[in-house]
This record gives sequence, structure tokens and C-alpha cells, in this order.
Amino acid sequence: MSTPIVRIEQLPKFIGETVQVQGWLFNKRSKGKIHFLQLRDGSGFVQGVMHINDAVSEEVFQMCKGIPYESSVTVTGVVKDDDRAPSGVELVTQDVVCHHQPETDYPITKKEHGPDFLLNHRHLWLRSSKQHAILRIRDSVITAIRNFFSDEGFICLDAPIFTPNACEGTTNLFETQYFDRSAYLSQSGQLYMEAGAMAFGKVYCFGPTFRAEKSKTRRHLTEFWMIEPEVAYANLDDVMVLAENMLCAIIKHVLEHRQPELRTLERDIGKLEAIKAPFPRLQYDDAVEKLKELGHDFEWGGDFGAPDETAISEAFDQPVFVHRFPQAIKAFYMKRDPEDDRLSLSVDLLGPEGSGEIIGGGQREESIEVLEEMIEKHELPKEAFEWFLDLRRYGSVPHAGYGLGLERTVAWICGTEHVRECIPFPRMMYRISP
Ligand code: 4AD
Ligand code: MG
Repeated sequence: MSTPIVRIEQLPKFIGETVQVQGWLFNKRSKGKIHFLQLRDGSGFVQGVMHINDAVSEEVFQMCKGIPYESSVTVTGVVKDDDRAPSGVELVTQDVVCHHQPETDYPITKKEHGPDFLLNHRHLWLRSSKQHAILRIRDSVITAIRNFFSDEGFICLDAPIFTPNACEGTTNLFETQYFDRSAYLSQSGQLYMEAGAMAFGKVYCFGPTFRAEKSKTRRHLTEFWMIEPEVAYANLDDVMVLAENMLCAIIKHVLEHRQPELRTLERDIGKLEAIKAPFPRLQYDDAVEKLKELGHDFEWGGDFGAPDETAISEAFDQPVFVHRFPQAIKAFYMKRDPEDDRLSLSVDLLGPEGSGEIIGGGQREESIEVLEEMIEKHELPKEAFEWFLDLRRYGSVPHAGYGLGLERTVAWICGTEHVRECIPFPRMMYRISP
């Protein structure tokens, strides 16, 4: 019988058996007649212990002595229970076949590297344990979101990336040549999801969105992924409930499936376990009062800056909804608050622990007259929105939705300072490679 090839995360199911692991050598230590080979295969990390004895050939033992980091190897060994190991097992190694040995030293070492060096080597940095953990959590967040919306009866209806019109204002649009005319890279799939909601009732899109953000902050990327649900016959309150249920489902899924990764990141898991719906809801006016109480110099009517968001979120230990922002600082499509014309039925969700705004959304204006007025007021080209106005010409209904920024959500869950580590290949104002 041939030796089974097993992924490292599955090794605890093979205790006492001889298996093969296909991976890379990320670290190594030798002590006389023993090598400790640190292996990774993408699913996890495990130590291979090689003693010089009858089961191991002298030739293989010598080869392992000089083998450089990041050599690709197939390792054969017996899986042994080991409580002290993070993976719970160790591989008593009998044979190593090396597929490729680097000829120069692997550039990323144990010493501290600066962020520029690491970002320049992002194609290799992905292999490091912390980055590996963050991106596996990112994957779990995506799975949780897709499962959640599927269970809630939503259809995934993706939006185009080349668009003829702006959704989130014209200041941060990426313009691109599109044959003999110009087009914009999508800032948000929302307008298309509004069409989708009128066709399917409950839809969402999940894709990359683009903003020519000139701000160099730890929360801004020029290309980021957004999940945007849109629901027909829903109001502002309905989407707040949807958003909090979605976030709780995400946290639950990550806690169930990504404990080793959270440990690698030294995340305070108690903070995630404590997240519970319903989240506090704060009207913009009350948030402004709160900021003034906290000694912030903030005028009614302005948008929150990062320090304001942090101050508000630190007053709570849950994510906080801030709703009913002034109409004037929100996008053209926001519905006016029927109770107060200065306000809009908008909502932002501020993540805990200073993670900032992770969700933006609200109820949409369903009246064609008001929308036309807003398009004019925002100096948007009406022709480009004719298709969108059709949604108000034919069976317009109240509807609402939101966008969740994937990388900011992952940054919060991972306890990571900067969103650039929460996407495989970050795009920022000064970075477009690798
Ligand atoms: O608040 P925003 O701009 O909302 C919209 O785009 C709506 N059209 C969404 C909708 O209602 N369907 O963006 C939504 C979220 C933000 O809360 C934030 O999490 C994230 O997208 N985001 C960014 N993430 C990283 N880098 C940037 N430059 C981001 N800009 C927004
Ligand atoms: Mg926003």
C-alpha cells in the first residue's frame, strides 16, 4: 500500500501512521544526531524530528544538515501525538525528498523587517505565519458571509467593475479608457444591486471596488473588497438587524474554524466571544453630543474623522450603529428622514477596538422626483443615471442595503493594525506591485 499524502491540518487524524507531507522547510535546528525540521504546507505548521538511526539513511541525514530555508520537500514520517506542539503532533521523520533548493538566502528572516521591505516581498511574505493566519481568517470570513446570505434566501448577483457612472461621489473615481470613451472602475455595486433587489427581492454582490484614495491611512486601500446586500421592501431598521446578524454569524464561524490562527495572532479571543446582537444604536445627533462630552472639537454637520470614530467606538464594547447622518454629507441616493428634513436614513457601523467604520449603508430614496433633484444638486450627469431612474419609474418600493468592507472587518477580527495585511496583494496610493 502506498503512503498516504496528508495535509498538516489533518495529521491529528493519523496518529501512529506513516504519512507523507508535501511542503516547504521554513526553519530548522540541528543538535548532534537530531534535526528539527519546521515544515509548512499551506494548511498548517509541524515539526519533523529526524534522529540518525536505522530508519534514516546517512545520505538523507547529511542532506538535511545543509538544506536551506524554503526548500520544497516531501517528508515521510510517523505521526506522533505531542501536546506541546501547536499542531498537536510531531512527525518522526524517516525520509526527505527535496524538489528544489534555493541557491540564494531566503530574503525574509527572523529579524525585524520594515513594512516597505515586507510589502515589496509580498509574494513571499504570504508564507509567514502571521500573514498566513490573517489570510486564512479572511477566507473564513468570506465563507461565513456567503453561507449567511444563502441561508437568509439571498441571491449572489454580482455587479460590473467597468461602470459609466459614479456611486459614491466623483472625488475618488478611477477613470480608465474604454475603447473610444472613458469608464470608471466601480466604487460600489450598490446601484446595480438596487436593480437586482427589484428583480430578485434579496441580493448581494461581493467583489473588488476601487477608490482613488489619496489618504495614506491604515484603513484605506485603493482596491478593496465589499459585500453589498440590498433588500426590497426593507427599511433602515431592517438592514441594521441584517447587519448585526451577519456580523455575529461571521464571528461565530471564525471562532469555530480558526482557533489556531487566532492564537498565532495572539488575538484576545474573549473580545470576539463577547460580541452579541443587538448592537447599540446611536443617532448622529447623540454621537455628536457624546464627542463633545469627551472633549472633541466637533461641529454638528461634519463627518467623523478616524479619531472621532475611535472615541465613539471606545465608549462601547460592541460594534456601534450611528444612524441619521446629515443629508448634506451623504450620497445622492440616501432617503431623507421624513421626521427631519436635514437628516438622511443612513447608517454606519463602527467596529470595536478602534477599527473604524466597517459598514456604510441605509435606506434608499424611492421617489423619482427627489432623486432627480439630488442628482442635480450633486452635479451628477443625469444621462448616466437614466437606467437607475427606471427603477423608480417601474414598481418603486422602499428598499435598503449596506456595504461591508472586507479588509476592515478582517483587520478588526484579527486585531491587525493595518488593512494592508488583510488583502493578499494590497493596492495603495504608492503601491501597485508586486
Ligand atoms: O461607506 P461606503 O462608501 O458605502 C458604500 O459604498 C455604499 N454604496 C455601500 C452600500 O450601501 N451598498 O463604503 C462601505 C464600506 C465602508 O464602511 C468601509 O468598510 C469600506 O467599505 N471602505 C473601504 N475599505 C478600505 N479602503 C477604502 N478606501 C474604503 N472605503 C470604504
Ligand atoms: Mg462610509
